Amino acid sequence: METTIAEEAEDLMNQAIQYQEFGSPDVLNVVETETAEPGDGEVRVAVKAAGLNPVDWKIFSGMFGGDTSGLPTGVANDFSGVVQAVGNGVEGLAVGDEVFGSMKSARSHGQNTSALAKEAIVAAKDAEKMPDGLSFVDAASLGIAGLTACGSLRALNLQGSDVIVISAAAGGVGAIAVQLAVYSGATVIGIASESNADYLRSLGAIPVAYGDNLESRVREAAGAPVTKLLDCFGPEYVDLAIALNVGAGSYGTLVGTPEATEKGAIATGQRHAQPGDLERVGKLVANGTVKVSIAHVYPFSTESVRQAYTDLQRGHVRGKLIVEVS
Ligand SMILES: NC(=O)c1ccc[n+]([C@@H]2O[C@H](COP(=O)([O-])OP(=O)(O)OC[C@H]3O[C@@H](n4cnc5c(N)ncnc54)[C@H](OP(=O)(O)O)[C@@H]3O)[C@@H](O)[C@H]2O)c1
Repeated sequence: METTIAEEAEDLMNQAIQYQEFGSPDVLNVVETETAEPGDGEVRVAVKAAGLNPVDWKIFSGMFGGDTSGLPTGVANDFSGVVQAVGNGVEGLAVGDEVFGSMKSARSHGQNTSALAKEAIVAAKDAEKMPDGLSFVDAASLGIAGLTACGSLRALNLQGSDVIVISAAAGGVGAIAVQLAVYSGATVIGIASESNADYLRSLGAIPVAYGDNLESRVREAAGAPVTKLLDCFGPEYVDLAIALNVGAGSYGTLVGTPEATEKGAIATGQRHAQPGDLERVGKLVANGTVKVSIAHVYPFSTESVRQAYTDLQRGHVRGKLIVEVS
C-alpha cells in the first residue's frame, strides 16, 4: 500500500511528555518531537510502558535545582519496549528484541532520552533483554526500584542470618527490597501503615505500622536483636536504627542528607547497584519469586500523566504506577 506524504511525515514524528518550566504535574504536556537516530552504543526503543518514580517529580518540580537551560525536557527513566533501531558498536541487541531497564547514560539527545515517550534513545548498557514470562507492564516497574533494592541490600551486606527493618516497605523500592531480603533468608520487619499489613505479610515480612512507640513495637515484632535497617522514607528511620542499636555500617537510607550521614547512615540506593542486578530481578519476577504490585496503569495522555504524578506525590502508592505508552 502506498503511503501519503502526510503519513510519511507522521512516521518520522515521536510523541513525548515534556515540561518547559519547573512546577507541579500541571507543567507536563504531550508534545510532538522528531524521531531520533541512535548514536554509537545506543538503541532506539518503541516504548510499551513507562514506570514512574518519585525522583521524576522531584526533578520536574525544581527540587534539585532550577536550571532552565535544559528545558524543555522529558520525564521518567524506567521503560519497557521493543528495539526499533540499533546504533554502531552495539552487541547483543537486535531490532525486534523486547527490552526493559532504566535509562540514564544515553548521550544527550535532549528530548528523546526519557521514558514517557513513544520512542526513546537508550544506551544499550541500560537495556536488558526481557526474560520469558515478564509482561511489559511489570518490566517497566523494575528499573530504578530493582537497581535500588539490590544496591542498598548490597551496601548493607545483608546476610541470611540478619534481622532487617525496612521502612516504606509497601512502596516501589521497599516491596522489592522486602522480597529480596526474604529470599536471601533474612527475617524482615516491614514498616508501613496498618492498611498495608496484609500486603506486607503476603511478601513474607512481619508488618509493623508506623506511629507511636514504634521502637518498642519493632523490638517486640522482631523477637531478636535488629541487625540491619534500610530506610526508604526519611530521617526518622535513621533515628530508629540508632534507637534499636543497629551497628555502624549496618543502616542506610535512600534519602541521604548530611544529617543522616553524620548520624552514621550509609547513603545508598542505585549508586551501589552492579551490572547483572536488573537481569536478576527480572528473572525473579518472571519466575514468580518476586511479586510486583502495580497499583494503577494510566493511558498515555497529558491529563492522565498529570494525574499519575499527582497520585504518586501523595506518597501512599502500594508498589508502582505505570503509564501504558503503546
Ligand atoms: N537513593 C536512590 O538511589 C533512590 C532510588 C529510588 C528511590 N529513592 C527515594 O526513596 C524514596 C522511596 O522511593 P519509592 O519509589 O519506594 O517511593 P514510593 O513508592 O512513593 O513510597 C510510597 C510508600 O511510602 C510509604 N509511607 C508513607 N508514609 C510513610 C511513613 N511515615 N513511614 C513509612 N512508610 C511510609 C507508603 O506506605 P503507606 O501507604 O502504608 O503509608 C507507601 O507504600 C523516595 O524518596 C525516593 O525518591 C532513592
